Amino acid sequence: MIVKNNNTFHLMGRNVSYIMAVDEAGNLLHVHYGKKLRDKDYSKLKKGWTDWAAYADDNRTLEICRQEYPSYGHTDLRHPAYIVNNAESNNVNQLKYKSYEIKGNYAPKIDGMPSLFAGDRSVQTLEITLKDDITGLEAVLLYTVFDEYNVILRSTVLRNVSDGFMAVESAYSASIDIAKGDYDLIYFSGSWARERELFRQPVLQGLKTDISNARGGSGHCINPFIMLAEHDANEERGGVYGFSLVYSGNHSSMVECDQFGNIRVQQGINPFGFMWTLDKGESFQTPQCVLCYSENGIGGLSRELNDVYRSNLCRSKWAHTERPILINNWEATYFDFNEDKLVAIAEKAKEVGIELFVLDDGWFGKRNDDTRGLGDWFVNKKKLPSGIDGLAEKINDIGLKFGIWIEPEMVNPDSDLYREHPDWAIQIPGREPSLSRNQLILDLSRQEVCDYIIKAISDVLSGANIGYVKWDMNRPMTDMPFVGYNHEYTLGFYKIMDAITGAFPDVLFEGCSGGGGRFDAGVLAYMPQIWTSDNSDAVARLRIQYSTSMGYPVSAISAHVTAVPNHQNGRITPLKTRADVAYAGVFGYELDITKMNDDELEEVKQQIARCKELRGLMLSGDFYRLKNPYETNYCAWEMSAKDGSEAFLMACRILSVASTAEEKLRLKGLDPSSDYIDTETGNIYGGDELMHCGIEPPYAKCDFSTVIMRLKRM
Ligand code: DGJ
Repeated sequence: MIVKNNNTFHLMGRNVSYIMAVDEAGNLLHVHYGKKLRDKDYSKLKKGWTDWAAYADDNRTLEICRQEYPSYGHTDLRHPAYIVNNAESNNVNQLKYKSYEIKGNYAPKIDGMPSLFAGDRSVQTLEITLKDDITGLEAVLLYTVFDEYNVILRSTVLRNVSDGFMAVESAYSASIDIAKGDYDLIYFSGSWARERELFRQPVLQGLKTDISNARGGSGHCINPFIMLAEHDANEERGGVYGFSLVYSGNHSSMVECDQFGNIRVQQGINPFGFMWTLDKGESFQTPQCVLCYSENGIGGLSRELNDVYRSNLCRSKWAHTERPILINNWEATYFDFNEDKLVAIAEKAKEVGIELFVLDDGWFGKRNDDTRGLGDWFVNKKKLPSGIDGLAEKINDIGLKFGIWIEPEMVNPDSDLYREHPDWAIQIPGREPSLSRNQLILDLSRQEVCDYIIKAISDVLSGANIGYVKWDMNRPMTDMPFVGYNHEYTLGFYKIMDAITGAFPDVLFEGCSGGGGRFDAGVLAYMPQIWTSDNSDAVARLRIQYSTSMGYPVSAISAHVTAVPNHQNGRITPLKTRADVAYAGVFGYELDITKMNDDELEEVKQQIARCKELRGLMLSGDFYRLKNPYETNYCAWEMSAKDGSEAFLMACRILSVASTAEEKLRLKGLDPSSDYIDTETGNIYGGDELMHCGIEPPYAKCDFSTVIMRLKRM
């Protein structure tokens, strides 16, 4: 609900209030974001004033005011929400309140970019227009609130209503000034095969702008999701703010703690390498930023965000459909396969209950290794004489669905496509473009290139019975031909996504980028699941999946059982451990199943049967993190049904310890007055016992031991 009370705007979600007010000077100031407050007039704002700061003729300084979309260079010298240069080479603007509009049952679409949708939820949007009468810059601030959720969606439109030209140097989607307090910044950094490592550090005075990425996609290194948590907040308790950008290009999250201890948080497109020109009458819209607040700790915030993303972000029908258990041939064969080998894998996979066979890289052009072929989206008949349609038919005859890998945004210089259209690759005239994994990126800022990709991929998808697509993107972006290029590219990517996912609504799309290098809410809007990391070692995955689940639903986290020694880090873990960890995700296998012995195949059969019973929980249940592998020798998590009828627990002791007592694990989300049977062991427990007394997991005397429980209410 949105209420205007005198000069106060009050957005109310389920348990959350977001309040702002216009002061007498026309500044749009921030009043409160957090626990829900009663509706009243909050516009009696303290005048910001100090005698030594820069101040306006009414003795007011914005430097100590909490603002909604702060400008730089008038009376506030902190980090601004935007920088817009005008034709006079001046970038000082002062946006003052002009008008507002409240739109019922309306969640705005964002220009050329994905956004959350209303679905069957009750949702309203407030549009506040601010204007600088001197420069002619207008900003429309969009705020959307769902009655049932604790999220506020924000986006900003900058409009040039002057007679001259303007250049947007930076435009954050959202800026929020949080009242002084002891907060920690939580963010997710890492690398290829170490995606989204968890970092938590106190917010100290100064400016932290390096929670950003300028590598092309949202990236392996820094994720566009951050949290600001009260210093003593943990998984269960404490106030936590989340900021998640629905965007897949270069991004930036900025935290500034000013000289007085006030905290400003901003999130949006990375200003580094960005520039957008606005002729008279033109406007620019930022991506959407999802703000989420929880007073129930990090766990409460994750569960809230997971619900919102599961219901109101991904438009695919697969968002709410149980995902098929797949087998992917990548780590089984790499580029070295032929039809017989693939069919043999599929046949064995069918015997154990697998439902989908995925043909990874290497099926097209002259792609016998990673030096050639990208761009040539026609089958390599030497490897696959029956073609993709023939192979799909064979796989379907075995009783499996058929899926395929593609990397449509790329081209190898050694490809027919590049020989025909060398200018289609991103490059700066006169400069040799840099290769990465022997490939170049196609210029998605050009309509003809997007059209080619849409046509080529549509032809592949309509040429055979293809039920699943793994959409990969394997290199960082370099050699950008102009400033602001990355945003144009990202818009091209979304244009292609719209066209292809729209034309093939029955296909299950999975995002991928050298593992989890493009794991963001923008991709999730089109593809309900994303390959989380090329590192599929169970112990590494404990960390990667634990931290990824903080910002994204487990139904988005693809997790495969692979061979040992693990191909990325050489670790040997039991088959049981690999599966137990992968259950909290979209489960699959990526190994040569034809090489498994009978005992292993029997174990795999049981794992698949178990997963088929569990996977519904992943789509609709709540996820609880019980033990943090970044801080302890343990990791534990639980998925439980919202009505407490069932739950799944995974607990892992990473390294074996002699002569020690195990800490009890207390489960969550159960009905304390009911009894539960653990269908793994037949043991019966009280819900109160599991939640308040806890259990000591019976770890085996070895490294990487996992214990699982499948609880059903009796
Ligand atoms: C990177 C992906 O993450 C892998 O799973 C695999 O698909 C390769 N690309 C294929 O080139």
